[in-house]
Amino acid sequence: MLPKRRRVRARSPGGPAASSTSSSALFPGVAIYLAEPRMGRSRRAFLTRLAMSKGFRVLDTYSSEVTHVVMEGTSAGEAACWQENEAAPPPGCPRPALLDISWFTESMAAGQPVPVEGRHRLEEAELRKGPPNPAAMPAYACQRSTPLMHHNSSLSEALETLAEAAGFEGSEGRLLSFCRAASVLRALPWPVTVLSQLQGLPNFGEHSSRIVQELLERGVCEEVKRVRSSERYRTMKLFTQVFGVGVKTANRWYQEGLRTLDELREQPQRLTRQQRAGLQHHRDLCTPVGRPDAEALQRLVEATVGQALPGATVMLTGGFRRGKLQGHDVDFLITHPEEGREVGLLPSVVCQLQSQGLVLYHQHQRSHLGDPDHLARQSHTMDAFERSLCILRLLQPSQPAKGADSEPRPWRAVRVDLVVAPWSQFPFALLGWTGSKLFERDLRRFSRKEKGLCLNSHGLFDPEQKSCFHVASEEDIFRHLGLAYLPPEQRNA
Ligand code: UTP
Ligand code: MN
Repeated sequence: MLPKRRRVRARSPGGPAASSTSSSALFPGVAIYLAEPRMGRSRRAFLTRLAMSKGFRVLDTYSSEVTHVVMEGTSAGEAACWQENEAAPPPGCPRPALLDISWFTESMAAGQPVPVEGRHRLEEAELRKGPPNPAAMPAYACQRSTPLMHHNSSLSEALETLAEAAGFEGSEGRLLSFCRAASVLRALPWPVTVLSQLQGLPNFGEHSSRIVQELLERGVCEEVKRVRSSERYRTMKLFTQVFGVGVKTANRWYQEGLRTLDELREQPQRLTRQQRAGLQHHRDLCTPVGRPDAEALQRLVEATVGQALPGATVMLTGGFRRGKLQGHDVDFLITHPEEGREVGLLPSVVCQLQSQGLVLYHQHQRSHLGDPDHLARQSHTMDAFERSLCILRLLQPSQPAKGADSEPRPWRAVRVDLVVAPWSQFPFALLGWTGSKLFERDLRRFSRKEKGLCLNSHGLFDPEQKSCFHVASEEDIFRHLGLAYLPPEQRNA
């Protein structure tokens, strides 16, 4: 568990603050302060009673304990002024979120604090627009906006193919250089038409520049064409697309002379249970999942989770949260405002789905949060959260999928990841699971190299102070790192 910041209890000048010491608060991670400038005293008193009757903690003075400041009818500029003048937090303490009354009313209606989203925030988003001048392009993906739709798709796709091929050969360094160059192109607010426009751009090495030059001059690139049509690339792509097959396994099969999925199917004894399920549903799992399907799954997961643990929230994360219209899977992050209640939730959720005949495959991974060395063991992709890797049956009577025998059937198989995070780690988990992978990688590298801090899906750790930061939202994490906040749709690095 993350050690919490030492808390200083606030007292009203006139005596003990009854509301601030309410011991019956249901949501210990949330302490609301209703800021009065435009609210009026009687309205504030009414809202305070309402929130407390629903088990929220409302503080009547502003202090370092406050996690959520709620304002009504206040502009972003006024809110910032208020915070500067009246409510500077003690040194070293994070600023609480400045929220519009909409967060408060939604939370009251939900009977629990809803996750803070951009639309609730009063702070003006200081988004860095793509710089017109290449030299102004920051080097880390987490320092720049990367929208989903951009101006250099054919160039970035060529570099991404070379990155993928380098990954198949185990060349992590080359994979990263091509990925980073492709990501810079995605962030450019204009199309590259002549090579000189690359001058001064970060992460553009000689090889990537040469590929772009050839594409600009000839419309095609021989190296990319050769890779895409090579037996090695095609087979490695085919094998690694199978659920449960990584580069190492695919390479071993390739070295043994295997080339097709049917050859794999002929040797079921060599396959893991996950790979057998992957092969069995391969056709569906290769078909991109559309947004309506992801939303239908969200409703299903929400209903099931709500039944198993009332009050739990389910967030759609991964590429869909970044605004993608299609994905290879659907990622959900689940939490509950009362920390601890989420433990053991997944088995009952999966059981409920199984009883409806909707689980085609599932693999439960227990939480490693309690393991003494879980933070030390973590790599950049593996976290210690409890999770279920599933293949679910998504019913879709209106657009029948084709079965292996090409018969129409009213369902399709979809890869779904269900991940459970404790409330106090939820903003870190959400940030970590929203991606993109390169964005996450750069965010962690930036934290380490530029700030000397260690960021992962569980927390932000200061190795010198040996302390963790307490946060209420993704925005808090950006603020601690001294980065301008980027909403999910600008994290498509
Ligand atoms: P995905 O692999 O699902 O990618 O991981 P995506 O961006 O949603 O894209 P598609 O459309 O499904 O292909 C989503 C995010 O979750 C993190 C990844 O780093 C990525 O940022 N992740 C994934 C983890 O943190 N841990 C995992 O075990 C898997
Ligand atoms: Mn995904």
